[in-house]
Amino acid sequence: MSYIIWKDDYNFGLEEIDIQHYQWANLINDLYALHTEPKNADRLLDLIGKICTHLELHFNAEENLLQKNKYPYLKLQKLEHEKIISRAYRCKNEFDAYRNVGDLTDFFKFERDYFIDHTQNLDRKYLPFINKM
Ligand SMILES: [Fe+2]
Ligand SMILES: [Fe+2]
Repeated sequence: MSYIIWKDDYNFGLEEIDIQHYQWANLINDLYALHTEPKNADRLLDLIGKICTHLELHFNAEENLLQKNKYPYLKLQKLEHEKIISRAYRCKNEFDAYRNVGDLTDFFKFERDYFIDHTQNLDRKYLPFINKM
């Protein structure tokens, strides 16, 4: 069973952003599926790396879109994005150093909660400002 079950509600009607949010949820699901297996340490590290890269890509795309649409609270989005990126890289570095799968429990819970908060609260605030043309 998926850790994050994708809901129609998660879609904004912005194709690029929707695809990226969907991919992000899938990466968290993959991490969840693998996290109990110490023998998967290399794959887990690889996956955490993919999450870091994906977050950078998504947040950059979002910030560009918000800038183009003159979103007045872009600064707040950027601050939130920076927090989540540094959390992800911290997890990656710690996992690389200690290979402790137990440490990942907090991370994927955080990722899931943040994924939901990000898409449903933080990001929803910019929707009225986006010109869909
Ligand atoms: Fe987003
Ligand atoms: Fe965002």
